[in-house]
Amino acid sequence: MEEEINNLRNQAFFQINEAKNIDDLEKIRVNYLGRNGKISKYIKHLKTIPNEKRKQIGALINETKYVITSQLTAKRNLIKNKAREWMDLTVPGEKIETGSLHILTYAIEEISSLFEKIGFIRKRYREVEWDYYAFESLNFEKWHPARDDWETFFVDAKDHPKYGPMLLTPHTSSAQVREMQNAIKSGDKAVKMINISKTFRRQSDASHVPMFHQFEGLFVDKEVSLSNLKGTIDYFIQNFFEGKREARLRPYYFPFTEPSFEIDISCDICNKRGCKVCKDGWLELGGAGMVHPNVLKNGGFDPKEYRGFAFGWGVERVFMMKKNLGIDDIRTVYSTDLRYLKQF
Ligand code: FA5
Repeated sequence: MEEEINNLRNQAFFQINEAKNIDDLEKIRVNYLGRNGKISKYIKHLKTIPNEKRKQIGALINETKYVITSQLTAKRNLIKNKAREWMDLTVPGEKIETGSLHILTYAIEEISSLFEKIGFIRKRYREVEWDYYAFESLNFEKWHPARDDWETFFVDAKDHPKYGPMLLTPHTSSAQVREMQNAIKSGDKAVKMINISKTFRRQSDASHVPMFHQFEGLFVDKEVSLSNLKGTIDYFIQNFFEGKREARLRPYYFPFTEPSFEIDISCDICNKRGCKVCKDGWLELGGAGMVHPNVLKNGGFDPKEYRGFAFGWGVERVFMMKKNLGIDDIRTVYSTDLRYLKQF
């Protein structure tokens, strides 16, 4: 009987091997494992076998059943995989998602290329800074309340003996003195940079995010004037924003520029008449001014001979204003929901 069962198994293996399709395999399964199949017949026979042999034959039948089932499964998978290799050219293709750059990357590219066209050199400065470059060298007094406006993240590290505490750079202005010092070191007689970098502040609400980007223009030379600053701002506004937009300089205070301004841009929703979004016809864009003599001095430029202008604006904010997207919460720009991002 043991020999018969072994022969049965070999026979089943042979037939499984020869099977061409799923139907063949199903027939083999029914023939061997079905209710009236060959294996079942042996199981029914077990009763007639003497006790001392029954256990041994029972184990052999179970094992045979198990190996035939495994062989059938293996062959079924093989046949299915082969079927997949066949390509039906009439089936509609599957669309492959290609992905794209983030909307802010596009905004950064556009801003740098506009300023590069008028001679500003694109720079990217460090994200971790010393207090000296972020504040001290920019004419902030140690305990000046203006430092609170920057809501700085301080890094838990040892103070620099000369430059003080370590912090996450709260504005791109931290690079002003560094850029001037680098220019002096390399023997340049002027500075014309557009620094676009990450900046950090302890702020999070509808118009603030803790990590954002600023772009900072700095132009230092012998003949730089306020009208150059106004011309640069007008150039940017006319080329970056859609429609006819105007710029307005509103007096303000920054310790590192004198005079200082906030730049406003005319609202194109109401055409300067005043509406729900702008209130008085103008939207705030960011700060600007003429570089303070102390800052020029800290950068190594003689304020009696040199002058400069600087401006620093938020990339996220100008992007939101550009498209007139009606985004009422800046945090959504950092949403990871593709349905949202794909709209732009
Ligand atoms: C400054 O940071 C000055 N360094 C700008 C400057 C540069 C003035 C050069 C003069 C000369 P302010 O804190 O206003 O200024 O920030 C400038 C712009 O950054 C804001 O108008 C806004 O567009 C953007 N901004 C500031 N904080 C955030 C924030 N938490 N989230 C998103 N954007 C912000």
